[in-house]
Amino acid sequence: MAPRERALVTGASRGIGADIARRLARSDYHVVLAARNLGATQALAEELRAAGASASALTVDLSKPDSIASALESLRRAEAQEGPVSCLINNAGIAVSSPLLRTSDESVRRHMEVNFHGPRHLIEALLPGMLERGSGRIVNIASSAGLIGYPYVSAYCASKHALVGYCRAAAAEIGVPSKEASKSEQAGVRVHVVCPHYVDSPMLAESIARLMEKTGRSAEQARSFFAAQNPSGKLVGPEQVAEVVADLCSGDGVSQIVELDGAPTPVFRPIS
Ligand SMILES: NC(=O)c1ccc[n+]([C@@H]2O[C@H](COP(=O)([O-])OP(=O)(O)OC[C@H]3O[C@@H](n4cnc5c(N)ncnc54)[C@H](OP(=O)(O)O)[C@@H]3O)[C@@H](O)[C@H]2O)c1
Repeated sequence: MAPRERALVTGASRGIGADIARRLARSDYHVVLAARNLGATQALAEELRAAGASASALTVDLSKPDSIASALESLRRAEAQEGPVSCLINNAGIAVSSPLLRTSDESVRRHMEVNFHGPRHLIEALLPGMLERGSGRIVNIASSAGLIGYPYVSAYCASKHALVGYCRAAAAEIGVPSKEASKSEQAGVRVHVVCPHYVDSPMLAESIARLMEKTGRSAEQARSFFAAQNPSGKLVGPEQVAEVVADLCSGDGVSQIVELDGAPTPVFRPIS
């Protein structure tokens, strides 16, 4: 039997990341579930192992370079037994709303750390091994907020635009032969970006709670408000995002940017 490929999923303690971990475990990856809440990732890893899958948990705080360095060191130590990370799923993220002129420096910095610099550090650490092996998948869960603007979330939009821009450049660059890797080695590495509109997850539940508090709307009204912002008029299911990630991890097509707006079919476009 071929050894399992190892997939690192950040933000796997709940929401979209937990669904991605479940989906990749079903496709026989060894899934490393990473987040700050080790209790939650350990519980999910145990649930996956009980169902016959291979999974482990890892603590990481993406806002802290030291924590990222220790997580990478643990991954390296496990490499002899579990193999290298062949799929990196940069999913963890934060979204805190505030009016444009009342958004603090601290909030902008934190969004950039978790949503942009954290994923960037993981890419910088894991991409060289992928290029050397001539195969690897990096799937970044950005957002429609990385493509368009939304009111009251300037820090979130800025961080997601930064992630999308960085990935566009990375995908373009691995298509060009470099001193570090030949063209054929690079040919097996892909950098994909997934841009969901509003997804039914704990992050959205927080936004619903904030909207109810601010406007006095009921939970149902607040939920309908967010669904109506999506072009399809429906929320995206986290399992649909997970399905797209599984496709991107196993596919051989060129690097893609994928938009999910709640309609049954996501829109795949070559990233440029
Ligand atoms: N929900 C939406 O409407 C929506 C739409 C488009 C894109 N997205 C993106 O999809 C991704 C997942 O979102 P979600 O809806 O599943 O959010 P969520 O339910 O709030 O989950 C966020 C995940 O990120 C982790 N995380 C947060 N801060 C972290 C940090 N400093 N270090 C490491 N992990 C951290 C959390 O784990 P711990 O708290 O345990 O660390 C959690 O597992 C995010 O990047 C989000 O921006 C969401």
